[in-house]
Amino acid sequence: MKYSFAFFFFFFSFFFLLLCSATAPVAAEGGQWQLLQSSIGVSAMHMQLLHNDRVIIFDRTDFGPSNLSLGGGRCRDDPRDWNLKVDCTAHAAEYDVAANSVRPLMLLTDPWCSSGTLAPDGRLIQTGGANDGERGVRYLAACGEYDCDWEEDPSGLAAPRWYATNQVLPDGRAIVIGGRGQYNYEFIPKLNSEDAGTVDFPLLRETRDAEYNNLYPFVFLNLDGNLFIFANNKSILLDYKTNTVVRTYPAAPDGHPRNYPSTASAVLLPLQPSGTDAEVLICGGAPAGTYTKALKKVFVGSLTTCLRISINDPSPSWSVETMPTPRVMGDMLLLPSGEEVLIINGATAGSAGWDLGRDPVLSPVGYRHGGPAGSRFDVKSPTTIPRMYHSSAVLLRDGRVLVGGSNPHAFYNFTGVDFPTDLSLEAYSPEYLAPENSNLRPEIISVAGAPVALSYGKPFSLKFTVAAMSEKGITVTMLAPSFATHSLSMNQRLLILQSEAAAAVLADEGASLYEVNAVAPMSAFMAPPGYYIVFVVNGGVPSEGMWVHIQH
Ligand SMILES: *[C@@H]1O[C@H](CO)[C@@H](O)[C@H](O)[C@H]1NC(C)=O
Ligand SMILES: *[C@@H]1O[C@H](CO)[C@@H](O)[C@H](O)[C@H]1NC(C)=O
Ligand SMILES: *[C@@H]1O[C@H](CO)[C@@H](O)[C@H](O)[C@H]1NC(C)=O
Repeated sequence: MKYSFAFFFFFFSFFFLLLCSATAPVAAEGGQWQLLQSSIGVSAMHMQLLHNDRVIIFDRTDFGPSNLSLGGGRCRDDPRDWNLKVDCTAHAAEYDVAANSVRPLMLLTDPWCSSGTLAPDGRLIQTGGANDGERGVRYLAACGEYDCDWEEDPSGLAAPRWYATNQVLPDGRAIVIGGRGQYNYEFIPKLNSEDAGTVDFPLLRETRDAEYNNLYPFVFLNLDGNLFIFANNKSILLDYKTNTVVRTYPAAPDGHPRNYPSTASAVLLPLQPSGTDAEVLICGGAPAGTYTKALKKVFVGSLTTCLRISINDPSPSWSVETMPTPRVMGDMLLLPSGEEVLIINGATAGSAGWDLGRDPVLSPVGYRHGGPAGSRFDVKSPTTIPRMYHSSAVLLRDGRVLVGGSNPHAFYNFTGVDFPTDLSLEAYSPEYLAPENSNLRPEIISVAGAPVALSYGKPFSLKFTVAAMSEKGITVTMLAPSFATHSLSMNQRLLILQSEAAAAVLADEGASLYEVNAVAPMSAFMAPPGYYIVFVVNGGVPSEGMWVHIQH
């Protein structure tokens, strides 16, 4: 009797476990790494995914020769180049995700430490840099099959902008904020005479310290149309139209700087359809004084804290959480499940700047922002390749994270240095892509004429198949692809869309066909016009995304 009870119990538990594994995503593995290319010939200092599933990758023109030939007998003849006046190598490349191949692109002016935005029509608009590129505006179309290339306006900016931040605005223009020695902002494209000049911005003058520590400020478009801007250890809400500070937030509780070269990273956490709450999360960085000490070869341990604030709270305050490992120069990416922030790349000592980082951190960390306080972090599987200064990461439409770069040197140096120039590309696949989760993975039935056009506040429906429906139900998320450089993903934005319960359309033994009705974001304050990727998420497992286009 006892025996059979135990047997029954065992049998039942086993059966129950099986049931659970059919509906709950398996989180045990910590994700997987794959080397896509040992060398693409250009180091990924800047990356942007376009809506043709190509990633534009570039660093700077003044590095001397890269490892990618321009081809076709092409060379760049630039008497102002600091290192190579006639250069037959490429400093930018278009990476085709599906083909895993690279096409060299011809950059004329120097985009070193620059910024970027996608225009509403999907073109990359890329701003500033150094040397002959400090006022440059460069345009690149998502051109598909034909071989388009950069179009450049070397004097498109009103001020030189080296280490500036861009944010796309509800009207589709971009604001370009700061840069070394620039305590002002401006707009592009310049549609009228008001746009021609610069607007004074005292926050950047006030937060400039001996190490700078306020470059690449963190900028997020709030739901009221104002901009949350964090520089050094201070943050404000700015009405950029009238150049008024609407709110001043409390300083970072420990007073330490979070912007370049004390490089932390920051995200606007996923936005709910209600459109009132918005939270900013800033993780890692380096204590004040780290940069100066690193110049003297003293490498201070990085910050271990994340700071989180509700920016529309009547009395906002920073809450402080502790990561499993310290990190400087990490990249933060919103995963399409809408449930997790990935913190990836970087080091555990030193700062940004040439050869100033030490002790790479090889394991990404996940942060479940909706989880119980105290147990939000988990450590993921490690890579083998250090991603130090000048590395980057972007999310791909298939849910993988593309990781590249690392070049803490003023040249391409492959020997005789601690962290050689890295030209490889890796993909990190989060747990949701593990084979154990394939039965939970929805597949959107592709729509003829994609990218699908969405209108603000209008319903739309998606058909998808999935083998096992999670009891957590279906959510629909919408992600703006970001411009990644220097640990900052500009314009990164993830919306949880209002949606109804998915309904079965048709069922057979294999996968079932469902339909979900969702509503496009209510306004351009919520989602500025442009291309986004929509995901159907089932129990934390996102489908491959689908490109959509939203505009006024
Ligand atoms: C890049 O080219 C240099 C010079 O030809 C060579 O020494 C180096 O190994 C190459 N590096 C990679 C990663 O391809
Ligand atoms: C913020 O940083 C500035 C500049 O380094 C410093 O003087 C100030 O004390 C810091 N603020 C706080 C609250 O610690
Ligand atoms: C890096 O490469 C440049 C150009 O080839 C060379 O002049 C420099 O000495 C190298 N630096 C180191 C540390 O090897």
